[in-house]
Amino acid sequence: MIIERQEQVTDAVLAELARAPNGRFKEIMAAFVRHLHGFAREVKLTEEEFQTAVGYLVALGKHTNETHNEAVLMSGSLGFSTLICLLNNGNTGQTETDANLLGPFWRMHSPLTESGASIVRSPTPGPALFVDVIFRDTRGRPIAGAEVDVWHSSPEGFYENQDPVQADMNLRGKFITDRDGRFSFRSVKPAGYPIPVDGPVGELLRAQGRHNMRPAHLHFLAAKDGFKTLISQIYVNDDPYLDSDVQFGVTRHLIGDYQRHDNEPAPAPDVIGPWYSLAHTFVMEDGPSRLPKPPITGKAQGERPNIPVLVR
Ligand SMILES: [Fe+2]
Repeated sequence: MIIERQEQVTDAVLAELARAPNGRFKEIMAAFVRHLHGFAREVKLTEEEFQTAVGYLVALGKHTNETHNEAVLMSGSLGFSTLICLLNNGNTGQTETDANLLGPFWRMHSPLTESGASIVRSPTPGPALFVDVIFRDTRGRPIAGAEVDVWHSSPEGFYENQDPVQADMNLRGKFITDRDGRFSFRSVKPAGYPIPVDGPVGELLRAQGRHNMRPAHLHFLAAKDGFKTLISQIYVNDDPYLDSDVQFGVTRHLIGDYQRHDNEPAPAPDVIGPWYSLAHTFVMEDGPSRLPKPPITGKAQGERPNIPVLVR
């Protein structure tokens, strides 16, 4: 159609979209165009502001490579990743869920580890942590034989693949749930860490006066045929960034009950000083078992990253 007034631009685009044979594509793109045009009208977007926005999109691409995805980081920083997660889990957003963000550090082929064993594979100073988890279906029945990957940052806030000091696969393990749906392991208490701020996400955070910290957490990825793959994080309950996670990942249900023990004997005789324990029961929903694409494939070369910490 020939456009005569600004109002007609939206109709012109929607009319062309009506030709798309894929119904779902048509539905998504039509809503996207309506909201995008409506957004520009609502804020009366100037030409300079439009150029800035295009610059952000270009910068997202330029700051993305084999080991870093700036677009995912931006999505998290706008709360969009958590919104998508909560809309698609917990009975399509009706009930609480163990589902959470995957994050950028999951690796395939974590070493198969016996229940009860340690995932500390090279010297990693920090408070000992003993974890005991159970996996159940939505009817409360234990899920035996689920494959569960566990991974987390060190007490200094680095994943092994970022840190030349840690052995390959340190603080990572793959466990199989037993007939009661359970397994346990030993590790060290993780620390929170800053997300990179050298790209457009950094600009976004600085413009809002936000910090760039994620609160400490353990990652879990559980898979078994017949169940929707469960990606989860259990957050450390004494972390100062719990209520201001830069990625908006923390939900009330996933704040873990990490208990500090000062004077009780630890489950292992070599533990010195205070130690922590965590127990959590995960619920897996019915659905297709699909693994995500691993965001990273191996250990990064070189030094530990030196990421600045922004103050809120
Ligand atoms: Fe993480």
